[in-house]
Amino acid sequence: MKILVVGTGAREHAICQAAVEDEETELYSIMSNQNPGIARISKFKIASENDIPAVKKFALYNKVDMAIIGPEAPLEKGIVDSLESAGVACVGPTKEAARIETDKAFMRDLFEEHHIKGSLVYEVYDNAADAADFIDNFNLDVVVKPIGLTGGKGVKIVGEQLNDAEEAKAYAKEVIDTKMGGYAGVVIEERAIGEEFTVQAFVDGKNIAPMPVVQDHPYAYEGDQGPITGGMGSYSDTNGLLPFLDKKYYDESVKIMEDTVKAINKEVGPYRGFLYGQFMLSKDGPKLIEYNARFGDPEAMNVLPLMKTNFMDICEGIVDGSLKGAEFAEKATVCKYIVPEGYPGNAVPNQVIEVNEEKINNNHTLVYYAAVNQKNHRIYSSSSRALALVSMGETIAEAEEICEASTKYVKGYIYHRKDVGTTELIEKRIKHMQDILGK
Ligand code: GLY
Repeated sequence: MKILVVGTGAREHAICQAAVEDEETELYSIMSNQNPGIARISKFKIASENDIPAVKKFALYNKVDMAIIGPEAPLEKGIVDSLESAGVACVGPTKEAARIETDKAFMRDLFEEHHIKGSLVYEVYDNAADAADFIDNFNLDVVVKPIGLTGGKGVKIVGEQLNDAEEAKAYAKEVIDTKMGGYAGVVIEERAIGEEFTVQAFVDGKNIAPMPVVQDHPYAYEGDQGPITGGMGSYSDTNGLLPFLDKKYYDESVKIMEDTVKAINKEVGPYRGFLYGQFMLSKDGPKLIEYNARFGDPEAMNVLPLMKTNFMDICEGIVDGSLKGAEFAEKATVCKYIVPEGYPGNAVPNQVIEVNEEKINNNHTLVYYAAVNQKNHRIYSSSSRALALVSMGETIAEAEEICEASTKYVKGYIYHRKDVGTTELIEKRIKHMQDILGK
């Protein structure tokens, strides 16, 4: 089967790798720069994944049977609608169904109108004075969110990036006045307190097949310090849960996702593809922070290497509405992102990174390339994350030890968070959650 994967990063490298594990896959890819991991397993074209006419032309020229869409930006631009109208089956939601990520007002209204549990107090405003009134009269800290996509940079939280209600009001005004994320509007939400976790699922329009839970680490530096990034690393446990999250809360989160898929179907038609639920485990149970209409990055790298079910059978099930459950190996995983010095914000691009893949693989660790560029057999950094290392183990601690040991085989002007997946950090998470739940 001819499969086209759209996207350039480590998430797409992991998707490509899962696709070629089916020996009937003939892999094609569209990426914006030469990802060495994707390049060696696919017939590729260098083009923006947002250039929908170019993607469509490439898909039709090569007569691909199915396209798998990695990032959210082309979903927002309607890549699935365009490819499907040309007869290419797609793993990814239509522009309307992708609004679960691309329109945060749509998402919250959907929860309210369909009485889906796990939502937060929220209001949507197109006027800064009304937003300020709400913030003044609300007696909890708030989160200020642009309605549309901002590449993960738009959400600001009182107590983190914003000092107080005054800064929240000023930021809400800025979001509206500058049409941040493409809308002259803003969502103001109650700030949820707890531990964040990610549940990802395959969705065929009505059935969902959930995956093991993962916890990402968005802060740049050890001890959850520094600026927010795209994600510095992540871990998952052997039982598909997390050390601070039991099955009851997992099941409640999956139910929220099932109810969301039903509601999307009623409002705008079927959601097909990967669905990423970012939750906060709060004192009142799981609260939905936001959805992504795609796999998580790094979370895709924790779950895809664990798949026991053939990934391409799952994709076919997504496309034709016959999805059954997905099975995963009962292993713990730890993923550590290697990023350029200065990331995020001040990374110096175009630095050579040396990756000794043979030594990394001999140490039972997988390499997924992200925002690097291959030129003349050398790998160059960009201003974003460079590559992810993923190890498995019988425990999280074992996976972490292997992964950390593998980081020494990557050299350059780079850094990573040494504490991702360590027992010390996980115990801190458990203690935090016990304090919140009053255990
Ligand atoms: N892990 C964050 C994201 O995928 O958006």
